[in-house]
Amino acid sequence: MKLGKLLIAGFLAFSVAQAEDVMQKSMSMMEEGMTQIQQGFLNNNIALIENGTKLVNEGNSLFNKKEVIGQYLTEEKKHLVNVAVNASKRITLDVNVLNLNLEEKAYIKASNAYSDILNACSSCHALVRNW
Ligand code: HEC
Repeated sequence: MKLGKLLIAGFLAFSVAQAEDVMQKSMSMMEEGMTQIQQGFLNNNIALIENGTKLVNEGNSLFNKKEVIGQYLTEEKKHLVNVAVNASKRITLDVNVLNLNLEEKAYIKASNAYSDILNACSSCHALVRNW
């Protein structure tokens, strides 16, 4: 019985630590991606923008599940988990819009999509940080 409880406690601690790792990996990939996209637009370096969008996409796909995102919301914000999940979905859509506009050489539209990604980052952060 005692051992069972210990195992359960250990497992819970392990899964929380794992979620934390995934979150940090996801966020640092997206941060690096956004930096590259910004530098790409400022310096007219399209390859850098393209690489940045890949990082943002990959990072976003690590942190897009309701169950995982929900762990980062306080009790009074838990009912807003879908809003947080939608921020992640919005990033996926924006990355597509950004890439399509890049292909079309519609750079203003592409950079507007970049701004919208940044807004989506902030809308989830506002929830998890009680901004
Ligand atoms: C669905 C929710 C969500 C979205 C969308 C989101 N984040 Fe986060 N972000 C978090 C959570 C949760 C944390 C950890 C808690 C905190 O920092 O308050 C975090 C923390 C961070 C951190 C600090 C990392 C650390 O180790 O503490 C950075 C940097 C970051 N996010 C970048 C981004 C960028 C860039 C984007 C958009 C491309 C983004 N995030 C989008 C939820 C999100």
